[in-house]
Amino acid sequence: MKKIRRIGIITAGGDAPGLNAAIRGVGKAALGGYGMEIIGFRDGYRGLAEDLKARLDKRTLAGILTVGGTILGTGRDKPHRMEFHGEMRDMTDAIVANYKRNKLEALVCIGGGGTHKNALRLVEKGLNIITLPKTIDNDIALTDATIGFDTALGIATEAIDRLHSTAHSHHRIIIAEIMGHRAGWLALGAGIAGGADVILIPEIPYDVKKIASAIRLRSKHGTNFSIVAVAEGAMSKEDAADFAAAAKRKLNSKTKAQKQHAKTELSVLNARHTGNTMRLAKQLEELTHLEARVTILGYVQRGGTPSAGDRLLATRLGTKCVELINDKVFGVMVAARGDGAKAVPIAEVVASKLKLVPLEHSWIESARRVGTNLGG
Ligand code: F6P
Repeated sequence: MKKIRRIGIITAGGDAPGLNAAIRGVGKAALGGYGMEIIGFRDGYRGLAEDLKARLDKRTLAGILTVGGTILGTGRDKPHRMEFHGEMRDMTDAIVANYKRNKLEALVCIGGGGTHKNALRLVEKGLNIITLPKTIDNDIALTDATIGFDTALGIATEAIDRLHSTAHSHHRIIIAEIMGHRAGWLALGAGIAGGADVILIPEIPYDVKKIASAIRLRSKHGTNFSIVAVAEGAMSKEDAADFAAAAKRKLNSKTKAQKQHAKTELSVLNARHTGNTMRLAKQLEELTHLEARVTILGYVQRGGTPSAGDRLLATRLGTKCVELINDKVFGVMVAARGDGAKAVPIAEVVASKLKLVPLEHSWIESARRVGTNLGG
């Protein structure tokens, strides 16, 4: 069987700690173990479209294991809708041409949900694509874990730990806003690990009155402070109902005008949702008569040194990826399964949609058992 000699690699979507560990894992295994050449492309799919290359060799791969971010750069560009010289263009053919021009025999795409959808488009164009799951949101289907989640979990937990003492000293409610627009894994995990009193996630629409009465009950029992861990996508029951109705209208819209109207409606709701955490703080102040403060953890959660867990995961998946390429297994994501890794068709990952927190998940059960209020 003819051996694979040259592969490419990109990192796409939002960055996450552990991306460099993954690039190193793929790169070292390719160069050392299998004698393959590896070319990095800059800034996600844009690098492929514009043929922006980065040298990857023993020297450039050295010392990056512990470094945050990605040495290749990243971006949220989509191959089929990319801004190019001031206009939106379909760059898929340019990507295919550059893949061929660089004599690539496989391309590794490391990324989250969007990256997988885009990777599938390239699979359908006949390219040999293999992906690694990366996102601090932990919301990619069919893998036990994603690169970046463990580090972000540690950062958000440490933040909650630190907020405890100041909330306690000032007898305040402190709301920590944690990343996660659609999935609540990070808020739920960090909330449990940090001992938050209230955890709000997008999967469980909340009733602000119920949160306030849980906080008032704590005060009644002599605990005059509370920590609320809220995912950025968490919504009140009323907002969730408005979103669901607008989404349904969009789905059922028959004419172009109806679809456009529903789209506008959704973006108005989205705009209203921004700043939701501040609104929640105000509501809780009014209902509990305690002072409330908001801390938005933001991009701190995506930055800096990856945890040991993420370095290990990235190295495990990265090296397995090269083994699969050598065996000519393409069109798959290298999923984490227990201690091992498994090739799962990218088409199945995309068809499965996002991995949200199931309402019957053991983390939810445990949170309830330790008396955490989940807003419902
Ligand atoms: O990568 C996922 C994520 O971290 C989300 O949790 C967050 O809402 C989003 O990215 C923000 O990313 P950006 O501002 O870089 O597009």
